[in-house]
Amino acid sequence: MKKKKITIAIDGYSSTGKSTMAKALAKKIGYAYIDTGAMYRSVTLYCLDKGLIEGDTVDETALEAALPKIKITFKPNEEGRSETYLNGKNVEKDIRSMRVSDKVSIIAAIGFVRRDMVRQQQAMGKNKGIVMDGRDIGTVVFPDAEMKVFVTADAEVRAQRRYDELRGKGDTTTTYEEVLHNVTERDRIDTTRAESPLRQAEDALVLDNSHLTFEEQDKWLIDTFERITKAKK
Ligand code: DC
Repeated sequence: MKKKKITIAIDGYSSTGKSTMAKALAKKIGYAYIDTGAMYRSVTLYCLDKGLIEGDTVDETALEAALPKIKITFKPNEEGRSETYLNGKNVEKDIRSMRVSDKVSIIAAIGFVRRDMVRQQQAMGKNKGIVMDGRDIGTVVFPDAEMKVFVTADAEVRAQRRYDELRGKGDTTTTYEEVLHNVTERDRIDTTRAESPLRQAEDALVLDNSHLTFEEQDKWLIDTFERITKAKK
């Protein structure tokens, strides 16, 4: 008999490697993967390009009017890796820049933006068989998800990882201190915002990967998935 598909929600702090682990898990078990952070990042990129962000202030009236015109889709690249498209343009690289990272928490704190993204995410996952990563997947988007993981790691470890990643992508100007500041600032905004703040769902399993290797982490995820799907049969 074919195994029943479940919904997997992976939430947690920024730069914990959530998307890397969610992607690897989805590939291994043959599920679809949705990076919801990429959706908030795409809206942010749209706002920056249209001049809707001035310092830390967003022209919310203009953004609300523009929202129906912002189409975010995911398409696999030649290697089968999912990439983000904003109104038909591949923005996978642009949405990971510091320019976007600096403003994304402000955009993600806007209620009407969140409601629109959550509606789209629920539609994408309605047939289960999905691994979705973000901040509110287990609490708001899919509160009934069968497997919920809450990922955390020390801020310094996360900053070092993001710094290495930026360096690897050719960014030679951003300093470690700037990255650490960005990480802790996003933690603060994400956990204290009024609209669905980042918090651990009561039934989520905590994964602290400060001192785990990729192999150990992948094994933990697969073992957890096997245990949950076995129990459900
Ligand atoms: O996972 P990430 O770093 O790409 O996410 C970018 C920002 O988007 C992060 O600062 C918090 C926000 N976010 C959110 O509020 N809700 C989600 N489901 C996903 C991301």
